[in-house]
Amino acid sequence: MDENRQGMVIPKHVALILDGNGRWAKKRGLPRTMGHKEGCVTVEKTVEIAARLGIEYLTVYGFSTENWKRSSEEVGALMQLFRYYMVRLLKIAKANNVRVRMIGDRTRFDRDIIEGLNRLESETKDNTGLTFVIAVNYGGRDEITRAVKKLAADCADGKQDPQAITEAMIASYLDTADMPDPDLLIRTSGELRLSNYLLWQLAYTEIYVTDCLWPDFDETELQKAISAYNGRERRYGGVK
Ligand code: IPE
Ligand code: IPE
Ligand code: MG
Repeated sequence: MDENRQGMVIPKHVALILDGNGRWAKKRGLPRTMGHKEGCVTVEKTVEIAARLGIEYLTVYGFSTENWKRSSEEVGALMQLFRYYMVRLLKIAKANNVRVRMIGDRTRFDRDIIEGLNRLESETKDNTGLTFVIAVNYGGRDEITRAVKKLAADCADGKQDPQAITEAMIASYLDTADMPDPDLLIRTSGELRLSNYLLWQLAYTEIYVTDCLWPDFDETELQKAISAYNGRERRYGGVK
């Protein structure tokens, strides 16, 4: 693994649960949507920082399969933000040699959002720097369910043999096929749960939770998480 100038090992794949936009807004007497807007600015900054630090994969949880349960006003405002920030993100990705990928079930979004996501992926696919993965309408259980459906259909068609199913084969049916598992998971705003994020992929990931609310997250906070990660003794079930 590469070490940066401070002798720190930079995790290859950082997964982020960006939580606390609502609380950030509430603290300021603002509507929740203002927290989301500020949160989008933080996402843009984090992409640039991650690209500069040499992180290879950054996977950000932007909207879960459960987030549709929020009020129609909040869901509508989030969709508007996606529309706006997808255009900005394309520019940022191009300027920073970032490849964008989306995980989750995009089919539930409006046509123009689906087109925007497709465009983000196709126009950045040859970039060689950071891979920025956006998890939208993403749920770990939904991802596994879709993967099982596809694998079962391939077995029924005779393309796969049920007796030959391996962990690697299952992984190849997930949205994250050909991506390494996350080394470090960061969750902002203090909740100690996974909220249906990357259930398969986080099996041996180191977890770091900070009380920092997502819109307040910055390079110092990211460095703190990386430094905590450097102090961990990674194990995969074995002994040292
Ligand atoms: C995270 O912030 C953003 C999304 C889930 C879309 P929240 O909206 O969950 O903020 P809190 O948890 O209510 O503070
Ligand atoms: C997790 O945050 C989902 C995203 C960050 C997109 P939530 O705020 O939705 O999670 P819970 O409801 O606190 O578990
Ligand atoms: Mg939340």
